[in-house]
Amino acid sequence: MAYENILVETHEKVGVIQLNRPKALNALNDQLMDELGDALLKFDSDDNIGCIVITGSEKAFAAGADIGAMANYTFMDVYKSGYITRNWEQIRQVRKPVIAAVAGYALGGGCELAMMCDFIIAADTAKFGQPEVKLGTMPGAGGTQRLPRAVSKSKAMDLCLTARMMDAAEAERAGLVSRIVAADKLIEEAMRAAKTIASMSLPVIMMIKESVNRAYETTLAEGIQYERRLFHSTFATEDQKEGMAAFIEKRLPSFRNN
Ligand code: HXC
Repeated sequence: MAYENILVETHEKVGVIQLNRPKALNALNDQLMDELGDALLKFDSDDNIGCIVITGSEKAFAAGADIGAMANYTFMDVYKSGYITRNWEQIRQVRKPVIAAVAGYALGGGCELAMMCDFIIAADTAKFGQPEVKLGTMPGAGGTQRLPRAVSKSKAMDLCLTARMMDAAEAERAGLVSRIVAADKLIEEAMRAAKTIASMSLPVIMMIKESVNRAYETTLAEGIQYERRLFHSTFATEDQKEGMAAFIEKRLPSFRNN
């Protein structure tokens, strides 16, 4: 697939996807989301990639779903075809970690896309919001579900009902983002985190991602049990033997993703 709305690069073991519709503040149309899904699944099945970064521009991670593209849809258009949201769930199939590096606006579907990633590193310029209510609609790609889990019901209600934006500092206080950095250090910081992750044992990294995600899907008792099984599974890997031997021998581990 030739990409017209995203730029894709590889840096060592990190796959980087940059949303690239600058004239529309990276508004997310079906074509862009198809391309994003395609690029993500390619990186996910590439043995040389250990972590993926999704980023936007200085001004916008993404200012939401493309309003012009959906303005005239009828219920039957969107219900029957699944337009606007049909290709959004591909990101959830990705088993390797995905970091969102967010500068500028992450609004509506842009905020939802960032929340679908495994964690968010924000520039101090980042602004998050779910302003769909101003358009006479509502979040449709997980905003009303992931935001309350990330920032509490009260703040999620506030953001979704009033359409106000939350700056990076508030987003970090609320737990939506894992770290804030100066805007000109965003990519450097995201790449550092991604390279660190990519230097670990990939199967173990995948198990950790699976296990943390389980915390959202099940009871604590079942989640603990699930984690216990995966923890025990790590002892079936060569990388666990290597990691522990390296510690004992006071050297750096050399993981082989086995
Ligand atoms: C289409 C968009 C867009 C969007 C911006 N643009 N956001 N086009 N869809 N979501 C376009 C503008 O029309 C404009 O094009 C250009 O990008 C620059 O935007 P400006 O508004 O001129 O920039 P600025 O004044 O800096 O304001 C930035 C902004 C504002 C505050 C982010 O653009 C804005 O409020 N955008 C809409 C945000 C929003 O409502 N998002 C939710 C969408 S609904 P021209 O051609 O005029 O230069 C949604 C539902 C998700 O996401 C459902 C699940 C998938």
